Amino acid sequence: MEILQDVSLLPYNTFGINVFSKYFGSVTSTDEVLELLDWLRDNNNIDLVIGGGSNILLTKNFEGLVMKNEINHIEIIKEDAAAVWLKVGAGVVWHEFVLYCLKNNYAGIENLALIPGCVGASPMQNIGAYGVEVKEVIERVTTVEKATGKITEFSKEDCEFGYRESIFKNKFLHQFIITDVTYKLYKQPQFNIGYGAIQQELDAMKIQELSIQNIAQAVINIRTSKLPNPKVIGNAGSFFKNPSVSKINFERLKEKYTDIVAYENTDGTMKLAAGWMIEQCGLKGYRKGNAGVHAKQSLVLVNYGNATGDDILEIKNIVIEAVMEKFGIVLSPEVNII
Ligand code: FAD
Ligand code: EPU
Repeated sequence: MEILQDVSLLPYNTFGINVFSKYFGSVTSTDEVLELLDWLRDNNNIDLVIGGGSNILLTKNFEGLVMKNEINHIEIIKEDAAAVWLKVGAGVVWHEFVLYCLKNNYAGIENLALIPGCVGASPMQNIGAYGVEVKEVIERVTTVEKATGKITEFSKEDCEFGYRESIFKNKFLHQFIITDVTYKLYKQPQFNIGYGAIQQELDAMKIQELSIQNIAQAVINIRTSKLPNPKVIGNAGSFFKNPSVSKINFERLKEKYTDIVAYENTDGTMKLAAGWMIEQCGLKGYRKGNAGVHAKQSLVLVNYGNATGDDILEIKNIVIEAVMEKFGIVLSPEVNII
């Protein structure tokens, strides 16, 4: 395993920010993770694990080692008449895993088609889209504890999943390297088309009979119509989370903003569409220099070319202040700022 020095991270983050990492190493197995951890200990160094770099904003050169996770395997570890259990390497590209499941008729993640990034970040972020969160199909997460090199398994319950949250993003931030994720997928699909836009798209596609393949295609069509392709315009998807408020606060907002967009959470609170609020502030398509708010989806901040992390942070602050002033709501970033 090779450790490179002074590596540009431009190809490794979808925001397209050009900062450098002092050291850089790719790992293709748990043994290589352990080897790199030894090197880190010997060199008194710190590390940052990345997969596809599609949920990070790099704001400065990284003075430690960036560990690119390339553990690539998909293994069936158990199967019965109803389900299949797949142990998947953290470096597998998420959408390739979705395509593998579609090909084999394994249901459960079709609504999560085309989310960028790798399998390893899926529990970290509890990725979600179009009415499904990955926690619904995660059985187990296999990790290496950085401090001890111990292989540690987390059950679904241990992961403390929430909306774009998990124990790996909170209590155990930067303490565990995810090497494999075990998913339970189903042989008989339970179609999830409750998210309005999916049904509309299926109608437009003139679908007569539902299948996981055409749900995935509907999701792909919706996503490509409004989310910017990072290969064309740098971005990391939604920059902010959709904030939740109590029913009472929601009713107060609704009196003033009658067309406010919100969804009820299972606990009775209301999740507000932050993209709608940003648009109401007149910021949809706002641009300052090389950075801005996407013209088709205001929740996405973009890099038009040579933006720095600070340029993106400036747009972030402009958005937060405008939404705070108009709605009295503080938006918090969903992207990991490093
Ligand atoms: P990275 O950006 O590489 O890492 C993200 C975080 O996880 C970092 O803190 C990193 O240190 C940590 N991490 C990564 N791998 C490991 C590992 N193996 N062990 C420990 N820690 C690790 N997300 C959604 O949920 N839903 C969407 O619909 C969605 N749409 C998107 C659309 C676009 C155009 C883009 C660019 C992004 C979108 N995202 C979406 C965000 C992003 O794709 C997900 O968060 C994805 O899971 C990030 O994966 P990654 O491998 O790129 O993670
Ligand atoms: N909206 C506007 N103006 C905008 C953007 C959105 O009015 O500029 C309105 C839409 O018309 C819609 C509502 O807001 O009524 C919600 O919009 P959308 O369906 O695009 O979803 P979102 O809430 O903006 C969330 C996720 C996305 C995920 C989609 C689909 C978060 C932070 N974002 O976005 O995830 O793909 O729902 O499920 O929860 C990501 O995490 O990076 C991401 C892209």
